[in-house]
Amino acid sequence: MKVLVTGGAGFIGSHYVRTLLEGGYEGYESAHVTVIDKLTYAGNRDNLPYSHPRLEFVQGDICDPRLVRELAPGHDAMVHFAAESHVDRSLESASEFVRTNVGGTQNLLDACLSAGVERVVHVSTDEVYGSIEKGSWTEEWPLAPNSPYAASKAASDLIARSYWRTHGLDLTITRCSNNYGPYQHPEKLIPLFVTNLLEGVPLPLYGDGLNIREWLHVDDHCRAIQLALTKGRAGEIYNIGGGNEQTNRGITDLLLDLVGADSSMIRRVADRKGHDLRYALDETKIREELGYAPRVPFAQGLADTVAWYQDNPGWWKAVKHRHAGAVAETAGV
Ligand code: NAD
Ligand code: DAU
Repeated sequence: MKVLVTGGAGFIGSHYVRTLLEGGYEGYESAHVTVIDKLTYAGNRDNLPYSHPRLEFVQGDICDPRLVRELAPGHDAMVHFAAESHVDRSLESASEFVRTNVGGTQNLLDACLSAGVERVVHVSTDEVYGSIEKGSWTEEWPLAPNSPYAASKAASDLIARSYWRTHGLDLTITRCSNNYGPYQHPEKLIPLFVTNLLEGVPLPLYGDGLNIREWLHVDDHCRAIQLALTKGRAGEIYNIGGGNEQTNRGITDLLLDLVGADSSMIRRVADRKGHDLRYALDETKIREELGYAPRVPFAQGLADTVAWYQDNPGWWKAVKHRHAGAVAETAGV
């Protein structure tokens, strides 16, 4: 068994690869993994075990047709994580989002078709559904993405579905809610706030802080992806949630508590443009069809995550510093 993992040096992709190489997925204990990752600002080679005998790492762009066509042959499956993933960045500039998320996905699917890769999981997001005030989205819900990031993911879902419908590629799409856990880039809410607190820097809470997200531990997300890979039906979409809804203010209070700080650290800042109010998934399908159930209790998962950032300042300081350096360079500082 040989699995091609795109974006495997990012937050979720690297968790999937580490778990797989540690023997965490039944039947895949001896699987070989090829990671293709461009190592953008979000990718980090240190997220992966350097010299693991069953890991091959290729630094490259999923939009490069020649590279991807050379790489795909010999793989039994592809799990496609690579993407530009941060909403705020897509508000500043959307072109890289369209290039990677849409063009890169199409390029990979072409390569899988011509190489005869037998199974594909396309990892997507709940944000493709837009924002929902009450109730929850089923997989049949119409797509109404609001940010350029979400729109590029929705477009990639449609491209992926078309390769199943037209070409018969054995492909399944997953749509997950907000993830948290170790190795998440400190641009995202939880790691940004935890690392700011550890540095004594205020927490930039957007708007009134009452936007709601559904939080799931990265380990539960990856287990669901593996279920989709091994048991998911071709052409189908599976929502992956967990039902744990929290306001941003609620998350902030929990983090303040865990780090031992108080609400004087909160700074209300301008709201995100087009800020989605609430995300909520109906995950009946994956529970009933694939036997999925999240395992990590939120309170425990969040406490463990905060502890991970406390224990690994070297990791996040390098990532934050690299990012700040890049921003300063761009700004000509
Ligand atoms: P991330 O930003 O941490 O990682 C993305 C990875 O993709 C990085 O390693 C980056 O270097 C790589 N990459 C970017 N552009 C590339 C390109 N052109 N070629 C090759 N590699 C490239 O993202 P993440 O949070 O781990 O998300 C992974 C996937 O899961 C994405 O598709 C995202 O849309 C989806 N998702 C994320 C969440 C979440 O809460 N983070 C929730 C649901 C779905
Ligand atoms: O729902 C799944 C999505 O979750 C994924 O598809 C995305 O890749 C991932 O980035 C995430 O998107 P969000 O926009 O929900 O996550 P983010 O961590 O950026 O923000 C979470 C909430 O916190 C959101 O309502 C905005 C708010 N926020 C965020 C930041 C970075 C703040 O209030 N202040 C901040 O500084």
